[in-house]
Amino acid sequence: MRVANKNIVIGKLLLFLLCLVPALLLLWDALQQQLGANPVEALLHRSGDWSIRLLLITLAITPLRKLTARGWLLRYRRMLGLFAFFYALLHFTVYLWLDRGLSWMEISVDILERPYITLGFVAFLILLALAVTSTRGMMRRLGKHWSALHQWVYAAGLFGVIHFLWLVKADYREPGLYMAIFIILMLFRAGSFKKRLQRAFSSDALRKLSSILRCYTSENA
Ligand code: HEM
Repeated sequence: MRVANKNIVIGKLLLFLLCLVPALLLLWDALQQQLGANPVEALLHRSGDWSIRLLLITLAITPLRKLTARGWLLRYRRMLGLFAFFYALLHFTVYLWLDRGLSWMEISVDILERPYITLGFVAFLILLALAVTSTRGMMRRLGKHWSALHQWVYAAGLFGVIHFLWLVKADYREPGLYMAIFIILMLFRAGSFKKRLQRAFSSDALRKLSSILRCYTSENA
């Protein structure tokens, strides 16, 4: 194994363990009965917090790679995204099972009639689709549609942040910070999209200009 590859494997193992820490702390606090007066609410909040944090970290990988020219950062993106999904799944399970006691009627009414729950649910469905198609096999099978599908991660990020902003009643600092981070990441993305467009346009325009000049000079020769 090459040294660079070995470092990536070790890096992935460390990242895996690091991403598991919030879940292990949650489990520990639950076993020690240290989740406070409302354990279900604590489970719901802590799993939701880690899902949105990891999702924003996942979205930050591409801008970070461009800013620092560290290509290897991309090798960690899939794992971060999968952990964002893992915490969303935990969050949803706590909601379905402990918060709503698997009462499908109540759950359907919540999803259909409470807009912040609807948004959270849509964000969850997007993350589910991305997690299921995150394997190399799916990447090969979906071909060019894979990238288009995985652009939906930005929608999941936006819906996740709005879901949080919407449910907060007084202290907007934490969801506000996440929204600010999301907007900065989107501005960065819009900037690099604009540059790509300009580059494509200028090279296309140059090609067209040179072919017009060639036609003109051959006609006048
Ligand atoms: C499957 C659909 C989802 C449902 C049913 C759901 C439901 C909930 C509920 C009931 C709460 C607590 C509300 C309260 O205490 O008043 C909550 C909080 C939260 N959810 Fe979700 N959620 C879903 C998906 C998501 C997803 C996908 C994310 C992240 C990407 C997310 C992030 C959060 C955050 C950050 C909080 C607030 C945590 C805090 O207050 O510290 N949720 N969600």
